[in-house]
Amino acid sequence: MQIGILGSGMVGRAIAGKLSELGYDVVIGSRDVAALMARTESDGMGNPPFGSWLQNHPAVRVGDFREAAAQGEILFNCTNGRGALDALAQAGEAHLNNKLLIDISNPLDFSQGMPPSLFVSNNDSLGEQIQRAYPKAKVVKTLNTVNAYLMVEPTLLAAGDHTMFVSGDDVEAKAQVVNILREWFGWQDIIDLGDITTARGSEMLLPIWARLWAALGTPMFSLKVVR
Ligand SMILES: NC(=O)c1ccc[n+]([C@@H]2O[C@H](COP(=O)([O-])OP(=O)(O)OC[C@H]3O[C@@H](n4cnc5c(N)ncnc54)[C@H](OP(=O)(O)O)[C@@H]3O)[C@@H](O)[C@H]2O)c1
Repeated sequence: MQIGILGSGMVGRAIAGKLSELGYDVVIGSRDVAALMARTESDGMGNPPFGSWLQNHPAVRVGDFREAAAQGEILFNCTNGRGALDALAQAGEAHLNNKLLIDISNPLDFSQGMPPSLFVSNNDSLGEQIQRAYPKAKVVKTLNTVNAYLMVEPTLLAAGDHTMFVSGDDVEAKAQVVNILREWFGWQDIIDLGDITTARGSEMLLPIWARLWAALGTPMFSLKVVR
C-alpha cells in the first residue's frame, strides 16, 4: 500500500520512518524538494536536516505535496498548522477526494512567543476547517496530543498504557484509523470522541500540553483517561 505523508518535520519523519519499516511504500511531501534537500542546519528543535534523516531511510521517497498526495492511498497531514490549508491546496483537491486523510496538525500560534496559543478554538477547529475545505476527503483527527516519537511507539511510555483520541465524520474511516493506531503503531487505549467537531476537544488539549512540557521538562508524557 502507498502512503502519502504531507510534511517533512519530525512528525512526518516519525510516521514515514515507522511505515517504511513496516514495509509500506511511503512518499513524504514538502513545499519544495530542492530547498528541503539543500538544508544543512538542524531545525529549532535540534532535529537534523532532512537529508541526513533520509540517508538513514533510503526506502522513503520524497516529492512535493502534490506528488505525495497523488501517490498516497492513505494520507497523513503532518504540516505546520499555520500552513496546513496551503499545503493541502498545493496537494490538490483531486488527490484528496475520497481518501482517508489522517490529520495530526495543531493550530498553534507562536507569534506571541511561548507558550503558543491556538489560532482557532472553542467553536471551530483546524480539523473542521480542513474537512470543510475538502468535503470529499475523509478527515480523521488523531495523534495530535502526543510527541512525534510516542505517536508511532506508545510503548515508550508506561508500557503503552495511555490514551489516544480520534475524531471524524466518516465512521468507516475512523474504524480504519483505530485499526491503524492499534495494528501499525501499538495503541491500546483509543477513545472515539465523535464527529469532526470533537477535534476542538483534542486540539484544545494543546494549551495544557504545552504547560506540562514546561513543567516536566520533557515532551515524553501523555494523558491517560482513567474510567
Ligand atoms: N512535533 C511534534 O512532536 C508534534 C506533536 C503533535 C502534533 N504536532 C503537529 O504536527 C504538525 C507537524 O509538526 P512538526 O513538528 O513535524 O513540523 P512543523 O515544523 O510544524 O511542520 C513542518 C511541515 O510543515 C510545512 N510548512 C510549514 N509552513 C508551511 C506553509 N506556510 N505552507 C505550507 N506548508 C508549510 C513544512 O514544509 P517544508 O517541507 O517545505 O519545510 C513541513 O513539511 C504540526 O501541525 C504540529 O503542531 C507536532
